[in-house]
Amino acid sequence: RQGVVLTGTGSAVPDTCLDNHQLNQMVVTSDDWITTRTGIRRRHLLAPKNSLTAMATEAAQKAIAMAGIAPQNLDLIILATSTPDDLFGNASQIQARLGATQAVAFDLTAACSGFVFGLVTAAQFMRTGAYQNVLLIGAEVLSRWVDWSDRRTCVLFGDGAGAVVLQASEYDCLLGFQLHTDGTQNQYLKLGFQEQEKLLIDSIRVGQGTYQPIAMNGQEVYRFAVQKVPEVIEKALYRAGLDIEQVDWLLMHQANQRILNAVAERLNLPEEKIISNVANYGNTSAASIPLALDEAVRRGQIKPHDIIALAGFGAGLSWGAAIFEW
Ligand code: ACO
Repeated sequence: RQGVVLTGTGSAVPDTCLDNHQLNQMVVTSDDWITTRTGIRRRHLLAPKNSLTAMATEAAQKAIAMAGIAPQNLDLIILATSTPDDLFGNASQIQARLGATQAVAFDLTAACSGFVFGLVTAAQFMRTGAYQNVLLIGAEVLSRWVDWSDRRTCVLFGDGAGAVVLQASEYDCLLGFQLHTDGTQNQYLKLGFQEQEKLLIDSIRVGQGTYQPIAMNGQEVYRFAVQKVPEVIEKALYRAGLDIEQVDWLLMHQANQRILNAVAERLNLPEEKIISNVANYGNTSAASIPLALDEAVRRGQIKPHDIIALAGFGAGLSWGAAIFEW
C-alpha cells in the first residue's frame, strides 16, 4: 500500500493586526479578561477587497516551494474552509492561481476540524494509489462572520491560512487517526443561514437570506473540547500502536490556551510539548493547525521523525485526531 509523507508547509496571514487593547475600545472587555480566559493577545484581520483565495494561494505557494515540486505535478487540492469567497467552492480559484492544471480541487467543510478531516481524506486518496501529490490548505476569513459587537465571540477569532504538501511514499507517516461527529450538539456553535420568505408567484415561495454571525455557547464548547479531545487522541494513538509517552508534540486546533493546557493535563503531557501560537492569531478555525505547524517546522522546533498528535474540534460538533510522524 502506498503511504503518505509530509514534504512542505506554508502559511500566510493578513498584515492588519487587532490587539486586545484595541478591542477594549470596541466592546466592554479588557486585555486581562481575554488573556486570562483564552491566552489570545492579538488577531490578524483581512482588509476589505482582499480575498481568502489570495491568502490561501500564498500559503500554498510556500508549501509547494518547500516540497520542491511544480504546481503542475499536483493531483489533488483540498481546501478546508467554512468562510469561502464563493459558496460554490473556492478551491478551483486557488487551483487556477497556482497553475495546478492537472489537479482536481474541492472544498471540505468541517469547521475547526477541517484540517484533520482533510488530512485523513487526502491520505485515503493516496493510500489507494489514486493520487501522488496532494495540496491540503486550511484557510479562513472568520472576520467576515463575527458579530463585532458581541464580546463573547469577537475576542476569539482571527483570519489566516496554512498549507501542507503530502506526497506518496513507501513509508506511511500517518500512523493512526480517529474522527467523530455529533450533530445532536450542533446548536452550540453555528454560522447558520437565516431565511426570509420570498413570494415568487401564486403560492410558490422560496427562502432567501444570508448567514448570521457566529453564535456560540462557550461553556458547552469548552466542556466538549476538554472531554472529547483527550479521548480521541488516545484512540488515534491506540490505532497507531503508540503510547502517550512517545508523542513529541501536541498540535491541537488553536482555539484557546486554557483548552490546550487542560487537554495536555488530562493526557499527562508536559506543557513543553504543546505547540501554541494562539496568542498571536486567535482562533483561525481550519487554518490554525497548519499555521502553527508551519511556524514550528520553520523555527526547527519539529524535527525529522518527531511524532505529532494533531487534533481538531469544533462546530458540527466535530472532532478528530491524527498521529503523524514528521
Ligand atoms: N470580556 C469581558 N467579559 C466577558 C467577555 C469579554 N470578552 N465575554 C464574556 N464576558 C462575561 C460574560 O458576559 C459573563 O458575565 P456575566 O457573568 O455578568 O454574565 C462572564 O464574562 C463569564 O462569561 P462566561 O461565558 O461564563 O465565560 P467563560 O469563563 O466560560 O469564558 C470563553 C468564555 C473564553 C468563551 C470560554 O467559555 C471558552 O473558552 N469556551 C470555548 C470556546 C471556544 O474555544 N470556541 C471555539 C472552539 S470551536 C471553534 O474553533 C469554532
